[in-house]
Amino acid sequence: MIRIIAAIDSKEVGKVAADVVTEVLKSKKNAVLGLATGSSPVEMYKELIRRCDAGEISFKNVKTVNLDEYVGLSPEHDQSYAYFMSDNLFDHVDIDKKNTNLPSGLAPDPEAECRRYDAVVDSMGGVDLQVLGIGNNGHIGFNEPSDHFTYGTNCVELTASTIDANSRFFASRDLVPTRAITMGIGQIMKAKKILLIANGKGKAEILERSLFGEVTPAVPASILRFAQDVVVCADAEALSVIAAKHPEAL
Ligand code: F6R
Repeated sequence: MIRIIAAIDSKEVGKVAADVVTEVLKSKKNAVLGLATGSSPVEMYKELIRRCDAGEISFKNVKTVNLDEYVGLSPEHDQSYAYFMSDNLFDHVDIDKKNTNLPSGLAPDPEAECRRYDAVVDSMGGVDLQVLGIGNNGHIGFNEPSDHFTYGTNCVELTASTIDANSRFFASRDLVPTRAITMGIGQIMKAKKILLIANGKGKAEILERSLFGEVTPAVPASILRFAQDVVVCADAEALSVIAAKHPEAL
């Protein structure tokens, strides 16, 4: 089932998305959170830090598994996803860093690293809440449009559109890594609950295609229609195509 929560702007999206995380943490202190990087969850992380500071929530017993990491970047590289997570969440809440997990971008054998990460995710006994953003091309994690859905952690070549989109964070396009390790779609779908966050006009069309178009690996996020429990938190711009074509859904 998919529930759409419409918010005005990215700040309000952050608050309603933080409400979804808070509900999970309140019902299970040792919850397993699947986390995402990128701009979509930033406001949510800020709100979670505020709530943790205020003593409303705690990450003391929480375990996390992140979706993905660039191949070739060390955790100290300021564009690595490990660095992003420390900077945007882990360094500011009461989480034990030993309980946080990301694929290693520096593993000498990325395929072996995928198998290691599968075992890490399996050892958690199930993800209670998986946070996702959505790529302009419909990717989730770094599972790019394809002719098949991936299952476990996999090493991917990023598409030109994803490299273009991510080049905004690097000094030049040449410095954007071309490969990443990502949790697979089968793993994402196993989460008990999924929280998809989308902001801005650039996501409007792909969000409508994902939630109302054909379920196809050409639009990886469309698989979420088969997930048990999905909450979409999106701002007015990201929901603009849905509002025009399916007003009854909002
Ligand atoms: C990040 C991730 C990606 C992003 C997606 C959207 O961990 O897995 O799928 O969620 O590329 O990125 P933003 O949020 O920057 O628009």
